[in-house]
Amino acid sequence: MHFHSPAAERNKQPILEQLQRLLPPQGRALEIASGSGQHARHFLAGLPGWTWQPSEFDADKRAGLQQLQLELGPRCLPPLALDVSAPDWPVDAAGFELIFCANVLHIAPWACCAGLMQGAARHLAPGGCLVSYGPYLESDVPTAPSNLAFDADLKSRNPGWGLRNLDAVRVEAARAGLYLRERVAMPANNLLLVWGPGQAG
Ligand SMILES: C[S@@+](CC[C@H](N)C(=O)[O-])C[C@H]1O[C@@H](n2cnc3c(N)ncnc32)[C@H](O)[C@@H]1O
Repeated sequence: MHFHSPAAERNKQPILEQLQRLLPPQGRALEIASGSGQHARHFLAGLPGWTWQPSEFDADKRAGLQQLQLELGPRCLPPLALDVSAPDWPVDAAGFELIFCANVLHIAPWACCAGLMQGAARHLAPGGCLVSYGPYLESDVPTAPSNLAFDADLKSRNPGWGLRNLDAVRVEAARAGLYLRERVAMPANNLLLVWGPGQAG
């Protein structure tokens, strides 16, 4: 089955520009919930010194990522079956300079937030960072009407889904020893958040 995400098509270039600004020339990335693989494909092209480890919870999407890996070759590794909320992730102990997770926290159970933060804390290489991307609620920033409507739609589809409050995400991050290093406002009322170990500066 072939998956295509119109949102990933729109956001892949603005996200890549941030990754190019934030990241060193070389490194290893772990992507949580690679979905259609559009991000992996675009970021590998724009980050020529990086290798990309895709992962997916959903078996059908994983099959599509397997095809992508065959097409993209050695800098794209075979997709892992990874449940972000699991206490163990099936990944290399050496760690990753980037752990990237787009558009998952609001469309998965809240436990996935703690899982993401705990897993990133376990698997980031020294000097590495977690980048999360998506819509969030912020106490001190009015929520865009489109995000309020999206939140209501998500909750009607699954009461456990919905836009996450950034303060609550920060609490889960701090429990894992991760702190918000940078908040970047992105198109269509999304945020790109950079998390890393140690106290915020
Ligand atoms: C809206 S899609 C985002 C896909 C891709 N990251 C993107 O931005 O296009 C949400 C993804 O979350 C994944 N997901 C849901 N629950 C998960 C879990 N417990 N662990 C890992 N991924 C999960 C789904 O399989 C799906 O690929």
